[in-house]
Amino acid sequence: MQRRNPRLGRLPRLDSCLPGSSPLQPSFAEAPAPSPPACDPRRPWGIPVPEDRARAVRQSPGLRRKRGLARHSAAMLLYGSPASPRGPRPSDQGLPARVPGCLLAPPQTPRRRGRRRRSQAGGAEKGRLRCRMLEGWILTILVSVGVGSLLFMVALVILLRNNIHATMFWNEIVLEKITNFVMDQSKEQRILNSVSYNAVKGDPESVLDCIDNYCSQKEWAMNVGDEKGVILDKVVEEADPTIALEFGTYVGYSAIRIARLLKPNARLLTIEFNPEFASIAREIIEIAGLSEKITIIEGHSQDIIPQLREKYQVDKVDFVFLDHWKERYCPDTILLEECGYLKKGSILLADNIVYPGAPDFVKYIRSHKSFDCTNYPSHLEYMKVEDAMEKAVYMG
Ligand SMILES: C[S@@+](CC[C@H](N)C(=O)[O-])C[C@H]1O[C@@H](n2cnc3c(N)ncnc32)[C@H](O)[C@@H]1O
Repeated sequence: MQRRNPRLGRLPRLDSCLPGSSPLQPSFAEAPAPSPPACDPRRPWGIPVPEDRARAVRQSPGLRRKRGLARHSAAMLLYGSPASPRGPRPSDQGLPARVPGCLLAPPQTPRRRGRRRRSQAGGAEKGRLRCRMLEGWILTILVSVGVGSLLFMVALVILLRNNIHATMFWNEIVLEKITNFVMDQSKEQRILNSVSYNAVKGDPESVLDCIDNYCSQKEWAMNVGDEKGVILDKVVEEADPTIALEFGTYVGYSAIRIARLLKPNARLLTIEFNPEFASIAREIIEIAGLSEKITIIEGHSQDIIPQLREKYQVDKVDFVFLDHWKERYCPDTILLEECGYLKKGSILLADNIVYPGAPDFVKYIRSHKSFDCTNYPSHLEYMKVEDAMEKAVYMG
């Protein structure tokens, strides 16, 4: 019986391979003349000689693959590229496609070269196609971003032109914060710089002009402004106060406006709770040459009002300008009344009655029989937004 080798096919029995022996003949002596051996005498142990091995490899797909792999690995090591285009593809085997730095070229045959060129041409075409697709995508994304940004800018401009809340948010939060960060100083410091640089020392009008120019052209700020400033001037002249009181100094714009109209023996007390604003106001008032007439009191209006008599020798006030936070207008008016600072003829003037508005104050003074009210329609400082001032004369 011949054993079957799964790879090599039929293999002869060992004894059948010995010269002169046959598996069918038990005795050597009885053996007939030796016939040609069933297998080659050169392979007495069933080890296939090269030709057999080649045949066996051709017949067995497993061996073929192994051999291909071995050839591929050797070629990769030596040449840096696969030995044969028919061999296993490196990507299939998880092997590198090229050994970097290998200087030897793989053996080339005309057929292999032709295939290689064709496959290279196909690869280049695919690459070009991918490049074009990528360019298309990038262009589409860039155009979309550009159009989106443009639409956003247009929407922002329309919003800023038509909505006062958006404008204030843009001015006070976005622009101001960015400018403060970039310049490392506050808007109020920039106003002071502008006044120091441009105004004429000792000339209140030049200081007011300078602040108005800066705030209408460069950065919006919450001064009463030039338009409502004219109303303020008229009411101050009408009141002709000896003692004037202001809630909310900021950088001293309205304080300068009021104080420049005061008679020689009169004075203005102005209350500001922000120490930075108070200090800048002091410098600007100094430039305007009105430090003698104006006293800046640092603190909250609700805390300062009860101390006015004892600390600042105020008995009655002739004129009060309310221009601090709007929710304080009504309670501070009531406090003034309760502390007995109002006399017959005392004039209260309140700013920003429409924007941002002080509805509880307006309701209070208009409904209170002791106040005689007049409304002065106007516009928000440095803007075309409707606003108004309210004058309330205390009738006792
Ligand atoms: C609109 S600004 C004043 C503008 C100033 N009257 C002018 O026209 O130049 C309001 C100021 O009031 C201050 N303020 C707000 N509430 C206050 C309060 N309860 N007591 C004192 N100051 C206050 C703010 O810090 C701010 O500087």
